[in-house]
Amino acid sequence: MQNKDWWQEASIYQVYPRSFKDTNGDGEGDLKGVITKLPYLKDLGVDAIWLSPFYTSPNKDGGYDVANPRDVDSRFGTLADAVELIEKTHELGLRIIVDIVPNHFSTEHIWFKEALNSPKDSAARKRFHFYDGRGLTGEIPPNNWCSIFGGPAWSRVTEMDGSLGQWYLHLFDSTQADLNWNNLEVAEDFEKTLRFWLDLGVDGFRIDVAHGLVKDEIHRDHRDPEGLTRALRLDVSDMPQEQRESLLSDVPFFDREGVHEIYRSWRKILDSYPGERMSVAEAWVHPSSRAVRYVRADELHQIFNFDFLIAQWNSEFLINAIDKTLQEVAEVAAPATWVLCNHDSPRLVSRLGGGKLGLRKARAMALLTHALPGGVYIYQGEELGLEDAVLPDEARQDPVYFRTNGVDKGRDGARVPLPWDSKLKNYGFTTGEPWLPMPDNWQTNSVDQQQKNFVEGSAEEQSQFGLYQESLKLRKNLRGLSFSWIEKSDSVLAFSRGGGYFVFTNTTDGVIKRELPRTGDGTSIILSSVAGAELVDGHLTLPAHSTVWLQTF
Ligand code: NOJ
Repeated sequence: MQNKDWWQEASIYQVYPRSFKDTNGDGEGDLKGVITKLPYLKDLGVDAIWLSPFYTSPNKDGGYDVANPRDVDSRFGTLADAVELIEKTHELGLRIIVDIVPNHFSTEHIWFKEALNSPKDSAARKRFHFYDGRGLTGEIPPNNWCSIFGGPAWSRVTEMDGSLGQWYLHLFDSTQADLNWNNLEVAEDFEKTLRFWLDLGVDGFRIDVAHGLVKDEIHRDHRDPEGLTRALRLDVSDMPQEQRESLLSDVPFFDREGVHEIYRSWRKILDSYPGERMSVAEAWVHPSSRAVRYVRADELHQIFNFDFLIAQWNSEFLINAIDKTLQEVAEVAAPATWVLCNHDSPRLVSRLGGGKLGLRKARAMALLTHALPGGVYIYQGEELGLEDAVLPDEARQDPVYFRTNGVDKGRDGARVPLPWDSKLKNYGFTTGEPWLPMPDNWQTNSVDQQQKNFVEGSAEEQSQFGLYQESLKLRKNLRGLSFSWIEKSDSVLAFSRGGGYFVFTNTTDGVIKRELPRTGDGTSIILSSVAGAELVDGHLTLPAHSTVWLQTF
């Protein structure tokens, strides 16, 4: 496939395989399910898909606890299915990127088992962070860090002779042992994994916890480890901003200088393959000016910009986020990315308040986002207008829920399987029992209804799917066009792309009128997030909470 730099302004769709489509009735999605629904994704109009992990895993953290990164978990199918998926995706003219999880391995990985059966100071233990504890009997962990999922970041092992022994580091669940990236064997193994999937034809990688690989301060306690964990959590709102900023400005296990060397070597591998392979970093780095260091010319291609993932429906916030992002990526000549939701965060409609109003704001937010320069990431179900499902606690599976003793409900609400067909049991997701219960009011969100509701050219009848389909099609025309502000106020964001496209967003609950910067018969509305937008004599009427795209022909 040609198209150099295809990723720069691509629309990339995140498939969370476990919840996408089940074909064998076990209640969990599988790779064959993704294959059967590729035409749907083509029809939606995305350029590429990114698959969350489908590798061999005991599934303690939704597959981000990898036991064998070079094989497919039987729950998802076989390696042959993965090969077929890669081929079929390419046949449809789409690209495919896969997750790589370099910060940790599952404690079911053969290396960890070997480490448990080896003495301290052995080569097997040096692939992870094994240390003696402090205190008279080693009963105090090597440092006071907390796990990002709650509780301590260290667990103690039982040695082969039955005695309590060393501790190993896990920034996430205790079943996810952090790897020691100072060990050459670790780097070599990941190089092997990269090449394994590149040889099979994937177009790139999404790098999990890309900022976490290097830990060079293990022998120092943190001044406020619990505060730090809270500061790292997106849902904690009661912490004063100043305290949060201060804690996040120096996280001892994140964003250490050594990570950049790793990505420089990965870039060389990616560049050595034909066909423009790419990488995108999941790296929560503060301040964001440091985040763009991951996308310097000889490092990674993209880094998720999570500003919109936490954005409120507020002009000032949105304007600042856009300005900051565009300015920062320009400094390293990298393209921006925009993310409205993913499998770790509340769904967009819910975050914006839920219900009809939440959906209305989400539609306006999506059209605003799709008009910005750079790449867009779409999380499965976003195009159906799904909200987070309300789940009974007994159904929850996220380790965050368990490690915080239920204080934090975790991320399962955004991971409920997709509704494909309003007429079928479990909305056609599975013939078995879905791994998370599906709400009983998702009929209108189901793909069959969403696709039916799309009436071209009729904003009144546009479904969320129809709106996404239209904006993903139109945004292809914006590729490479310049961006300039027309208005930045507390009620309206307006900008032009290339001088021929205009985008207006009204973040208030009242109707707003604006005179167009360039009027004439040749300008018309090409897309609107709601009905009621009008252009009369060069005057634009913007309905409450809306985004409108115009084009001068
Ligand atoms: C980020 C992933 O998106 C999340 O789902 C996972 O729990 C953590 N990294 C740990 O791998």
